[in-house]
Amino acid sequence: MNILVLGSGGREHAIVWKLAQSKKITRIFIGPGNAGTSTLGTNLPVDPEDFQAVKKAVLEHHINMVVVGPEAPLAAGIHDFFMSDDSLKNIAVIGPDRSAARLEGSKDFAKSFLVRHNIPTAAYKSFDSSNIDQSLVFLKSLRPPYVIKADGLAAGKGVIILDDLDSAFQEVKAMLDGKFGAAGQKVVIEQFLKGVELSVFIITDGRSWKLLPEAKDYKRIGAKDTGLNTGGMGAISPVPFADHIFMGKVINRIIEPTMHGLAADRIVYKGFIFFGLINVEGDPYVIEYNARLGDPESEVIIPRIKSDLFDLLEGVAEGNLAEKNLETDNRFVTTVMLASGGYPGHYNKGKEISGLDQTDDCVVFHAGTRLSDGKVITSGGRVLAVSAWGKTMQEALDGSYRNARKISFEKIYFRPDIGFDLKLK
Ligand code: AMP
Ligand code: GLY
Repeated sequence: MNILVLGSGGREHAIVWKLAQSKKITRIFIGPGNAGTSTLGTNLPVDPEDFQAVKKAVLEHHINMVVVGPEAPLAAGIHDFFMSDDSLKNIAVIGPDRSAARLEGSKDFAKSFLVRHNIPTAAYKSFDSSNIDQSLVFLKSLRPPYVIKADGLAAGKGVIILDDLDSAFQEVKAMLDGKFGAAGQKVVIEQFLKGVELSVFIITDGRSWKLLPEAKDYKRIGAKDTGLNTGGMGAISPVPFADHIFMGKVINRIIEPTMHGLAADRIVYKGFIFFGLINVEGDPYVIEYNARLGDPESEVIIPRIKSDLFDLLEGVAEGNLAEKNLETDNRFVTTVMLASGGYPGHYNKGKEISGLDQTDDCVVFHAGTRLSDGKVITSGGRVLAVSAWGKTMQEALDGSYRNARKISFEKIYFRPDIGFDLKLK
């Protein structure tokens, strides 16, 4: 069994790290991967959005299964591309087809799905250039802050939250005017929900599903959740407030109705569903769906999966996930993201990384690295995710921070306070 994992971040390194432990896999390829994945498999210079290049690599290396890490190839229809090509249609693709990936790819689609299936979410309305004026009427009916979202994929930048009504209306107009290109042809305006966010994940073969460990991600660049939004600066799993009662509500009010909704809408979903939730006074609401695993959530949830991940993926491919076993590790796993100074704004790349060989009792997932003349150098804003285990959250965090401090590169930055809010409780 040869497997190809598409993507190049910490999520993909975590997936590859776990798959490399499976006895059922002969060879692992990663397209394009990073310096970390190259120690576990073979990196191929393939852009996941260039389907012809993916096809060539799949045929050349006799790949039997493709695991799609990021959302863009899913939204662009990589699953459909495989199904409609005679030489590829028997190769399993882990990740939903284009229609199912609209849960992430179109906020308007996701919101109407949520409302249609009675799943708790913020009240909303969608607008396009034909009804801009009505957006002002709707904004006026809401209490600030105002949440304005570009409908399509906008590389995590398409959600703007503003306190002032006039600025909010200007933002709606700017989006409809092309600020985010085609992603902003429609705009969703929604009620602001106040609470603590968490990320819940399932894996599904389109019929049955299994709950993966949940996680909390720290999205802001600065300590105490200040400053700009990033892809995620650290994560923790399990989430202490996600107890049996809360997770029971998540299953009954959100996961089950989502699965029934997909079936009712005749959408066959194969892959991971990431529920971006918010806990509003003990009740879960859906902020967003993603059609993939999270990053850096993967760097804490995958190390908590004890079962063979490939076995679960095979269950998705073959439609017998219900027969598979999913065991999780009760310990905490935390990750601290080491970033390039300046991120999420301008930062420099190509800085040599040292200290990786000094780490112990942890796993360092590479997010933005590459090899150059045998050296590991930085190649992105988020560079390394240092994941560690512990019987308590604090023990895991101590492991992540103790090792984070052993690693260095020019202008390294990491948040000093991952988990701060969970410790107060
Ligand atoms: P999204 O891309 O939809 O996950 O939104 C990005 C971030 O914006 C979320 O992680 C939340 O922090 C925030 N957000 C989105 N929608 C809402 C909402 N209705 N109420 C409060 N915060 C929100
Ligand atoms: N960490 C959030 C995401 O992967 O979208």
